[in-house]
Amino acid sequence: MGDKLEKILLSEAEISEGISRLAAEVDADYAGRDVLLVGVLNGALMVMADLSRALHNPITMDWMAISSYGAGTKSSGVVRILKDLDTDIKDRHVLVVEDIIDSGLTLSWLLSNLRQRQPASLEVCTLLRKPDAAKVEIDVKYIGFDIPNEFVVGYGLDYAHRFRNLPFIGKLAPHVYS
Ligand code: XMP
Ligand code: MG
Repeated sequence: MGDKLEKILLSEAEISEGISRLAAEVDADYAGRDVLLVGVLNGALMVMADLSRALHNPITMDWMAISSYGAGTKSSGVVRILKDLDTDIKDRHVLVVEDIIDSGLTLSWLLSNLRQRQPASLEVCTLLRKPDAAKVEIDVKYIGFDIPNEFVVGYGLDYAHRFRNLPFIGKLAPHVYS
């Protein structure tokens, strides 16, 4: 762990238990329906890889890359599409797969964008949520873990493009970013 991380918030085993729990819920709710998992790059790569493998129902997947304008670790809610879906989602059952919901501004923008494409249904599955950071109300159906309002890295989440490959989720030591 070195001196870059202050503590481990979620171990590999805890993440894996959370992913299994989410997968069981998604499998039960979408039984008999074709679901399209939409992963939000880059952060959701690990969640997508593990969640999709934990599902028993057949699924398809697609990816979107979006970026929030705004400096540093704060999201502005002004969003730009860097890579759009390859799939036409009209009349499809869409499940957005996210790593983390912080202020909710990015996701809120994404959901209204996707809703305009008239999917049959639109839900969200996120591994992490910071309830104390919420700036907009979003109805999120599948939540792995609620976490404190601290900057976390690992398991897809980065600080300045680093730490994404950690198999666990940790809290960054303040000296790394201050
Ligand atoms: P908002 O505030 O719009 O932000 O919900 C969502 C996006 O911001 C990034 N984010 C984080 N990335 N550690 C990270 O590595 C964090 O604690 C964190 N909080 C927000 C992330 O890209 C997320 O999709
Ligand atoms: Mg993200």
